[in-house]
Amino acid sequence: MRVVLVGPPGAGKGTQAQFIASNLSIPKISTGDIFRANVSGGTELGKLAKEYMDRGDLVPDEVTVAMVRDRLGEPDAQEGFLLDGFPRNVPQAQILNKMLAEFGTSLDAVLELVVDDEEVVRRLAGRRTCRSCGKVWHVVFDPSSTEGVCDACGGELFQRDDDREDTIRHRLEVYQEQTSPLISFYAEEGILQGVDATGPVEEITQRAMAELRRFAD
Ligand code: AP5
Repeated sequence: MRVVLVGPPGAGKGTQAQFIASNLSIPKISTGDIFRANVSGGTELGKLAKEYMDRGDLVPDEVTVAMVRDRLGEPDAQEGFLLDGFPRNVPQAQILNKMLAEFGTSLDAVLELVVDDEEVVRRLAGRRTCRSCGKVWHVVFDPSSTEGVCDACGGELFQRDDDREDTIRHRLEVYQEQTSPLISFYAEEGILQGVDATGPVEEITQRAMAELRRFAD
């Protein structure tokens, strides 16, 4: 299946993407993760992306689209993929449709993870990420047993630069202005389904999988 996950920052896209992608045996492609890997690696792409990411703004479309085009051309993405964080605005969605048409295919489903702004702030203000293995924790909702240390690999946990409360609020504004128009864009294409993204992680995964099974039928 070819699936897009859309939703505000902190909706749990990254958390759900790993489980959904694993259930469907397709690669999870997260533009945020690819940008962060480039920032850590000190690449030219990373240096460019970092200034936008730290402010909570979108990285320019031409940079993002070229990166996604390369990734979707890789062998593991030929039978399906789960996109997390792309597209982020209507122009990116239009380019994605064209790109897939060139490959002779199209999207099967777009899941919108629905969660309110205050829950987003709670989730992001408490998020911690492992510097070594990338696993995501939460100081209240999913804490590691030793503060600051990843239970999975013993790595150091850190707070993302864009998870400060003022930057979170700005990212929410960017979402409303630039990303939320995707909801009607994909509704008109008949491939949008909202999913309640509150409650236990496993229940949200089950809701998402139930919706995807309907699209697959
Ligand atoms: P990106 O990394 O995509 O950030 P985002 O969309 O803001 O999403 P987040 O990663 O913050 O949240 P999430 O929804 O994945 O939540 P998570 O699962 O971690 O993008 C970062 C930046 O890169 C952008 O601002 C932009 O600059 C740039 N960028 C990326 N894509 C771009 C594009 N296409 N175009 C242009 N620029 C682009 O969960 C959050 C926390 O909540 C975690 O601590 C988790 O443990 C916890 N949690 C998850 N689920 C639950 C639950 N059910 N209950 C309680 N807690 C939960």
